[in-house]
Amino acid sequence: MTGAPMGLGGTRLIGTGSATPDGILTNADLEKILDTSDEWIQQRTGIKQRRVVDQTKGESTVSICCDALEDAIKNTGVDPDDIDLIICATCTQQMSCPSVACRAAERIGATRAAAFDLAAACSGFVYALNTADSLIRLGRYKTIAVIGGDAMSTVMDYNDRSVSILFGDAAGAAILTQDENPERGSIKQIMGADGRGWECLYLPRKAIDVPECDKDNPIELGMLRMNGREVFKFAVKKFQHVIEQTLSEAGIGIDDVAQLICHQSNLRIIESAREKLGIEKDRVYVNIDRVGNSSAGSIGLCLDELNQAGRIKEGDLILLAAFGGGMTWASSLWRV
Ligand code: ACO
Repeated sequence: MTGAPMGLGGTRLIGTGSATPDGILTNADLEKILDTSDEWIQQRTGIKQRRVVDQTKGESTVSICCDALEDAIKNTGVDPDDIDLIICATCTQQMSCPSVACRAAERIGATRAAAFDLAAACSGFVYALNTADSLIRLGRYKTIAVIGGDAMSTVMDYNDRSVSILFGDAAGAAILTQDENPERGSIKQIMGADGRGWECLYLPRKAIDVPECDKDNPIELGMLRMNGREVFKFAVKKFQHVIEQTLSEAGIGIDDVAQLICHQSNLRIIESAREKLGIEKDRVYVNIDRVGNSSAGSIGLCLDELNQAGRIKEGDLILLAAFGGGMTWASSLWRV
């Protein structure tokens, strides 16, 4: 788009979509290949199964992100030629060029849209949503499609029980457009990063990527490496803090929020935040038991499942919160 930005107001969430691959990897399946147990995994993470792509059928991050956007297009009836920009949050592109967003544009036949990928690990979908909302508020872009998706199973070392039990594959998408009411859309948002923690969670492609602290450890290139205990400590503290700071800056309480949609990292992390905030279970969506931690796919998938179930209504305040590798964190307080 060209011309001076109009700064017209707020952002309307037109609709959502999502995609999960058909493949299911249960705790019982993992018991057969790893020294672990269903009991340990459920107790420590709340996960019973994950969804996984079948690479022999051509399934990948690209395919699930394209499927999620196609689903959002179908659910909203938006004409792909009306989309000005596609942002895809992911950390598992099989190719860094072209972007997954360009492949999604091709799939839906969006010939007019600009497209780029955004990397903020598990915080990616909220980063992308906040970026899209800001660009729409500036008036530079009218309609933006946001995708978050990761095929984490493609970067899992299934010999490493400390990481591979957590992750699964999924993608979620949302279509946003300009709205005249500035009180609609992301009315408060936080995005942050602390690069000092990058070694806690990284995906080395080449030997040069491996940090000093892991030089003497057996590292599988192309596989996610995680210091679970450190990420857990960071997450419990940061998650709580980012939610409270968002509410406080918005001048509202948790009781004003219809749904708290948290990154599905580990049920214990979500439960810890829920208990400290004093919010009841039916206002904190959980699907980690069915799908595992799908990184940038997680929040978009939750949003779509809630939306399809009719649990997000016009005028509702919803609060999205995530943290992830980087380390990164993000929140978005959204008036639907
Ligand atoms: N099965 C059985 N035992 C295991 C397993 C397993 N799968 N994994 C570890 N253990 C053992 C350990 O070896 C250890 O044994 P030890 O006490 O004899 O040394 C014991 O269980 C405890 O290990 P911890 O690592 O302390 O276990 P913890 O309770 O921290 O749970 C977990 C591990 C689930 C990974 C947790 O640390 C976690 O969820 N961390 C956060 C991860 C996360 O949220 N990542 C999200 C960011 S994702 C992104 O941005 C892409």
